[in-house]
Amino acid sequence: MVEKEISQAVIARLPRYFRYLGELKDEGVERISSQELSRIMNVTASQIRQDFNNFGGFGQQGYGYNVEFLYTEIGKILGIDKTHQLIIVGAGNLGQALANYMNFERRGFIITGIFDINPELYGKTIRGIQVRPMEEMKDFIKENNVDIAVLTIPKSAALTVSCQLVEVGIKAIWNFAHVDLQVPPQVQVENVHLSDSLMRLSYMINRFESGKK
Ligand code: NAI
Repeated sequence: MVEKEISQAVIARLPRYFRYLGELKDEGVERISSQELSRIMNVTASQIRQDFNNFGGFGQQGYGYNVEFLYTEIGKILGIDKTHQLIIVGAGNLGQALANYMNFERRGFIITGIFDINPELYGKTIRGIQVRPMEEMKDFIKENNVDIAVLTIPKSAALTVSCQLVEVGIKAIWNFAHVDLQVPPQVQVENVHLSDSLMRLSYMINRFESGKK
């Protein structure tokens, strides 16, 4: 399949398609029309067709899509047909919550190590994974082929730690610290701001309330 430049909006919708298709697959559904998928996902059928056309269409319209095929192909586009080794840097509230979430493994994201600067946390285990000192981080990344680092440390430490990660050849950073990281182009960064999502929710409340007046 030849991939053209895909818009960020389409890419942002792919995980949701993948999730719904996974559920359909688990329910034993073999084929689904864009209309049916549209009804379940609450997006228009034409949006679905437009999105899928970016990747060659994924099969015939009218006859419907093969769920297993579509699930596999979207998985390949998202790069989750292979596994990724992850470390979490910062074993505080957020780091521990993420480490405790088991479903990342289901998607092929394997948490292999957790690191922190606080000696009181060394040796503590979260779901069987030991918290290690920062001094061990670089060697650990090299020895375990870690490709993604999750940053759940204070903003003030994030830039220094991201430099260490870049030096050791990390491929990607899932950044929860509220700071823009300066990394070379070969390092991918996904910033996560839960408060942005809450602000969007607040906007929706506002819009709904003002529509009632
Ligand atoms: P926390 O204080 O519970 O945990 C932070 C951990 O980082 C501590 O265990 C601390 O020892 C460790 N740490 C500090 N400096 C370090 C360094 N240089 N190297 C390694 N470990 C270091 O904080 P919490 O609540 O877990 O939040 C962590 C970060 O995530 C904060 O920056 C916070 O603002 C951010 N955050 C972001 C959210 C988002 O939606 N993006 C949501 C919640 C928190």
